[in-house]
Amino acid sequence: MQYRFPDHFWWGSASSAAQAEGASLQGGKAATIWDHWFALQPQRFHQQVGPADTSGFYQHYRDDIALLRQLGHNSFRTSIAWARLIPQGVGEPNPEAVQFYHDMIDTLLANGIEPFICLFHFDMPLTMQQQGGWENREVIAAYADYADTCFRLFGHKVKHWFTFNEPIVPVEGGYLYDFHYPNVVDFRRAATVAYHTMLAHAAAVTRFRTRQLEGEIGIILNLTPSYPRSTHSADLKAAHLADLFFNRSFLDPAVLGHYPQDLVDLLREYGQLPASHPGDAELLAAGKVDLLGINYYQPRRVKARDSAVNPASPFLPEWFFDYYEMPGRKMNPHRGWEIYEQGIYDILCRLRDEYGNIPSYISENGMGVEGEEKFRAADGHIADSYRIEFIREHLRWLHQGLQEGCQCRGYHLWTFIDNWSWSNAYKNRYGLVRLERESGERRIKQSGDWFAQVARNNGF
Ligand code: BG6
Repeated sequence: MQYRFPDHFWWGSASSAAQAEGASLQGGKAATIWDHWFALQPQRFHQQVGPADTSGFYQHYRDDIALLRQLGHNSFRTSIAWARLIPQGVGEPNPEAVQFYHDMIDTLLANGIEPFICLFHFDMPLTMQQQGGWENREVIAAYADYADTCFRLFGHKVKHWFTFNEPIVPVEGGYLYDFHYPNVVDFRRAATVAYHTMLAHAAAVTRFRTRQLEGEIGIILNLTPSYPRSTHSADLKAAHLADLFFNRSFLDPAVLGHYPQDLVDLLREYGQLPASHPGDAELLAAGKVDLLGINYYQPRRVKARDSAVNPASPFLPEWFFDYYEMPGRKMNPHRGWEIYEQGIYDILCRLRDEYGNIPSYISENGMGVEGEEKFRAADGHIADSYRIEFIREHLRWLHQGLQEGCQCRGYHLWTFIDNWSWSNAYKNRYGLVRLERESGERRIKQSGDWFAQVARNNGF
């Protein structure tokens, strides 16, 4: 075997409550911002398909977990829905939800699959959003209580916890670029949301450690290596600033326990710095993670801006750089994203060299395909050899990182079964398993059989 992975390497996939469970207003669950936004503006969702229309993990979790086992998984990430567990955001947990999450976790464990549990995957309870969401400092305490409830209820079974999935995405979507509710475009408010999210993260980490549970806690960040167009100083500066905004704004506080000084200075200079309180720095310092989840899909290629910024335009990170389409770059023709497999290796080497070689794992990587039914073979299964190639090439670079001393403990694909994805709904299919939306039938794709073999052999 040419590519062998370390013993106990985590093979699996990732999903999230809001994208898989369904039963969006059943079992005592209250609305999230997604239910609310869909009710307000269904036209903003691909083919007007909203959050109720999932693969139905809430009902089918036993069968789906049996499928995970068939796919060779030894680990699986999903999230707990805050609005299911504590429907009003604060208060006593909903007994039906407690039972559901116990059953789900027990079923995973009974199948030899380690549960990796994330506490927040874009699904803000509506009640919390109505109180200001992450703009309101009081939501931090509510979230920390919710996290602590999860640790109390499930902490003796779950050994891998994550406070947030891609915390920058609700900031970008909700407060900068208008692709999540509440559709605000205001950098200072975005910075406040980002800051409070990291305080909430640190508060949850502190509560986890107070309980002295066996296990570890981390955060999942979507890291986008920033590559400059050239080695000219203006392009290098553009890449540095894009990295500061999109990676280090979360990576530094999560791993080092403080914000990068140059980010703080820049935001202060432009009047965009969020308000802080005494004790915040100490809280952030206490929130350093044990383990980092890395979601990697594509790099960010940037260059110096071609034209001066119009100072009347809203302040955005793009004041400091332009995007750059590198000639000859490899594209995913079915999703419009660049494919750059070496990015995974570059991220791991950076963590090794600049972040104390913090233990990490690839918590998401995957290939979205629009119109995937055109790859259906005569016998009805999806012949997705492109996805096999995508995964294999990323694994090669991950393996290279391991050879060079990076501490990467696993690889989770996004995702195990085609799922509902926010405003893109079912536009891009990512699964190892095809979901037939009409019948609910699940059918393993070619990539699923291949992945199961790689996981069982611990290499390829
Ligand atoms: C990841 C998110 O960034 O991207 C997932 O964590 C999401 O929740 C995935 O589904 C794919 O996104 P899209 O827009 O291509 O469906």
